[in-house]
Amino acid sequence: NANGHKAGKTRNIIEKMEETGKNCVIFYGSQTGTAEDYASRLAKEGKSRFGLETMVADLEDYDYENLDAIPEDKVVMFVLATYGEGEPTDNAVDFYEFITGEDVSFSNSADPPLGNLNYVAFGLGNNTYEHYNSMVRNVNKALEKLGAHRIGEAGEGDDGAGTMEEDFLAWKDPMWAALAAKMGLEERESVYEPILGIVERENLTKDSPEVYLGEPNKMHLEGAAKGPFNAHNPYIAPIVESKELFSVKDRNCLHLEVDISGSGNLSYQTGDHIAIWPTNPGQEVEQFLNILGLEDKKDTVISVKALEPTAKVPFPTPTTYDAIVRYHLEICAPVSRQFLGTLAAFAPDETVKAEMAKLGNDKDYFQEKISKNHYNIARTLSVVSDGKKWTNAPFSAFIEGLTKLQPRYYSISSSSVVQPKKISITAVVETQVIPGRADPFKGVATNYLLALKQKQNGDPNPEPFGLTYELTGPRNKYDGVHVPVHVRHSNFKLPSDPSKPIIMIGPGTGVAPFRGFVQERAHQAKSGENVGRTLLFFGCRKREEDFVYESEWEEYKKSLGDNFELITAFSREGPNKVYVQHRLKEKAQEVNELLQKKAYLYVCGDAANMAREVNAVLAQIIAEQRGIPETKAEEIVKNMRASNQYQEDVWS
Ligand code: FAD
Ligand code: 2AM
Repeated sequence: NANGHKAGKTRNIIEKMEETGKNCVIFYGSQTGTAEDYASRLAKEGKSRFGLETMVADLEDYDYENLDAIPEDKVVMFVLATYGEGEPTDNAVDFYEFITGEDVSFSNSADPPLGNLNYVAFGLGNNTYEHYNSMVRNVNKALEKLGAHRIGEAGEGDDGAGTMEEDFLAWKDPMWAALAAKMGLEERESVYEPILGIVERENLTKDSPEVYLGEPNKMHLEGAAKGPFNAHNPYIAPIVESKELFSVKDRNCLHLEVDISGSGNLSYQTGDHIAIWPTNPGQEVEQFLNILGLEDKKDTVISVKALEPTAKVPFPTPTTYDAIVRYHLEICAPVSRQFLGTLAAFAPDETVKAEMAKLGNDKDYFQEKISKNHYNIARTLSVVSDGKKWTNAPFSAFIEGLTKLQPRYYSISSSSVVQPKKISITAVVETQVIPGRADPFKGVATNYLLALKQKQNGDPNPEPFGLTYELTGPRNKYDGVHVPVHVRHSNFKLPSDPSKPIIMIGPGTGVAPFRGFVQERAHQAKSGENVGRTLLFFGCRKREEDFVYESEWEEYKKSLGDNFELITAFSREGPNKVYVQHRLKEKAQEVNELLQKKAYLYVCGDAANMAREVNAVLAQIIAEQRGIPETKAEEIVKNMRASNQYQEDVWS
């Protein structure tokens, strides 16, 4: 596999382990950074508790044909996220195809092929999806079949139930015990050992041209950003239009259009996702730097160096504390209980230290004090120490212990046929009232987008609920109505033949991709193409409150005629909740007929309840309409999914 091959770097994992003196490699398959994080945490824990020589490895960076040659006294760990419809993450596609392949073959031809391999497995999944944790399950099965020896159970974390972190913590201790027994490891008093070193660069200031102030890579630093634009290299796109589709107390919905024509080669297809690269709000950056006692040093230039040959610095340097916190770390996210345990050693006094250890060890106490309030790391440290600064806590621990700031994905709500160079986004701004907490919880990316919208519209008060963002980017290079983006291609696609009927189900922001679909079909009808039946089930609270794109649907109908039907479900208008799936049932006969005519069916939006309930209702409809048992109907629905007649674009 030549993909991603970097000159001078070996793709041979055994060579790499020998070169660097490692006996434990932790491979990760990660999409949003969580699996990568868990891999790093296992690496640190293995080293500090058991003296294992650990390394973390991106599955994409190595070949797998020699897994059979890894000596018996070493261990390989797999931390594997399942993405979307039971798919491997982008960086794990090749590995997955290899290991589960029919004709998998290794460099030696031993029998069984992986008889020497000791492995550990943990999966990250979401039980609201059909293929829960299928990556770790299938990889585990494949490894077993090849004769490899698993140590401990194959763990499964569930994001759907919101128990990922606790599932991980509960899994890892018995795993370590089993591994220690197997490898004859002695547990020792664990101490924090940095894998990244921080060097202050006194000869540089934040105005020195080689200092990164948030630029994602060298091309951006040098003002010569060019494609390909991707998850490592965003395009700084101008926002050419922005408005609120609705705005009620604590809830509003944005429609933004970004122009990609200046990018040269960035393109999209109807149904794809756009990734928004947010920055952290100023108040949170400040609070974070303050509690660590770094407020006066925020612009000090530092280099971050890997102290270990296999460690990676997750952003370019030299840079500043402020830039790292603002652009590169997920400082607002939920806090990891294990991380609090690590930080206990650096508490400002013994009382705080004891409190941190208690939070680290006691799940219920942690839930009550921290999780329930949606506190992020800076607030947690500040609450626990009652405002005393954490000047002993090494900054490297935060770079190592927090997730990299992640791009957020949005289902593109425009058609690439109608507007190939303008991508539209439909996003609900996250503001949640937390009982017992004075200020509401606010999402990072959505409030950043809201601030951009306010800036573009020249709103007199451009701070959404008091949050301020650095809208002009590093070195004020963009004019404040630009946003870094890239496009992620998806399989959520219209049939290539427009005469095929389609059924779309998308309540709330789930309607986003369907605006693109209907826009496209209206355009095709207008151009004289034969466009098939186009049914859209849309649900919201009230017609007068959050009915997005109401007037646009009428416009599209002018082109599509009676072939287009919008079926609405307003959940808070009458005494009973009316949801899209209720409307689907009312339309059972036509829905069934269209499905028998091979209509494509699409579901978008909330993965937790809606998508699952729609799936169940569909099976009921098919059973009733065709007079077959429900188990048979469920089988039919499964097959529709397998053949892509039934497609989902859901998130939680
Ligand atoms: P974040 O800051 O990331 O917070 C998100 C959630 O995490 C919060 O609601 C909260 O539950 C939890 N959380 C965060 N911090 C804490 C804390 N400290 N303590 C406790 N809990 C916390 N959204 C749309 O509006 N429109 C779309 O079209 C759309 N399409 C999507 C398509 C895909 C494929 C995916 C994966 C997601 C899509 N989303 C869409 C969701 C979107 O990507 C974002 O997740 C959403 O906008 C929230 O982002 P945020 O940065 O504002 O919130
Ligand atoms: P509710 O908030 O009044 O319960 C968009 O968010 C719409 O989806 C709202 O009308 C919301 O209704 C509705 N909704 C909430 N839960 C749902 C579910 N399980 N299935 C379908 N729609 C749901």
